[in-house]
Amino acid sequence: MSNLVAPHILALTAYEPGKPEDELRRELGVDEVIKLASNENPYGPSPKVAEALDANVHLNRYPDPTGHDLREALAAHHSVPADHITLGNGSNELIDLLCRVCASRDEHAVFGHPSFPCYRIGSIAQELRYSAVSLRDDLHWNVDDLLDAVTPKTKLLFVSNPNNPTGSYIGGSELERLLTSAPEQVLVVIDEAYVEYADITDFRSATELRGARERLAILRTFSKAYGLAGLRVGYVVGTPELVFGLNRLRAPFNVGTIGQHAARLALGDQAHLATTVDACLRDRTKLRDALHERSLEVAPSQANFLLVKMPKPGRTIYDALLHEGVIVRAMREPIESWIRVTVGRPNENARFLDALDRVLKETGD
Ligand SMILES: Cc1ncc(COP(=O)(O)O)c(C=O)c1O
Repeated sequence: MSNLVAPHILALTAYEPGKPEDELRRELGVDEVIKLASNENPYGPSPKVAEALDANVHLNRYPDPTGHDLREALAAHHSVPADHITLGNGSNELIDLLCRVCASRDEHAVFGHPSFPCYRIGSIAQELRYSAVSLRDDLHWNVDDLLDAVTPKTKLLFVSNPNNPTGSYIGGSELERLLTSAPEQVLVVIDEAYVEYADITDFRSATELRGARERLAILRTFSKAYGLAGLRVGYVVGTPELVFGLNRLRAPFNVGTIGQHAARLALGDQAHLATTVDACLRDRTKLRDALHERSLEVAPSQANFLLVKMPKPGRTIYDALLHEGVIVRAMREPIESWIRVTVGRPNENARFLDALDRVLKETGD
């Protein structure tokens, strides 16, 4: 009775989500817990979203299967026709869907390593072959390395820009080169989960470069800067042909009524978005400087988190921080000596630094 789960599913390294605060409370009995593990917006969504939660929505009815109103709002926001957009139950669902819709068994996918693990998991689930292209020692993307990994069987090329978990990015001209140079059969997927936090001058969103490539999918999410991780709303901007294909397989009611309504209200409050992003960028610099003062190496970040090199295995530091009530993220090879910490509110960042000081002292460095 050991063959219930297919071997390729059994063999994969499953996604390890950030530990929920309540789980840590239950496991270690720590009362005061802060979570800096999943790159959420610590300030929460626009206050206008509360309207969606209070609204007299008909919860006995299925949600709008096409997400009409939210897609119209997104279409206006991006200046694209609404049939270039489809919604996902988080952008995570869309990653999986892209693998299922755009590639067949034994075809090939390319993505970076380290990068968001769901590109690998989605590829394995669809029994694709894949190349995980190592980021170079400086943890930066190299467009030539990505292009070199493409074969005649490659159907998907995933880039997280900015990249989770390194915070590194591909600049506008290199991104354009990637989009124009990848062979025609490849769907290039630019995952912009952290785009709102990219403030460096040579960064460009792929939404500005849509003219450079026909086979292009741009993923966005309401889980990060918009502060709605709990509602699971993401979307893809692509061609009508791509959207048509995704809609063939997408579960008809994949985004709930409250999620659709809340995302539209959050999108409409760009002032709240800007205020919380500004706070994050200010505190990203402060946290980086404080870590540098402790002689710790920090990867330059264009996202709402920092990757920090530890003098001990990252997992050891991660475990010790849990006992301090601070949840960060331990990393796997080749960056197993680093931890990833989300930029929190100022008091949370201070608490993380205090806890880290104690942990580094206790563990002997
Ligand atoms: C790069 C990247 N893409 C996609 C996601 C998935 O986000 P969601 O499914 O919440 O939209 C994440 C979440 O951490 C991420 O870091």
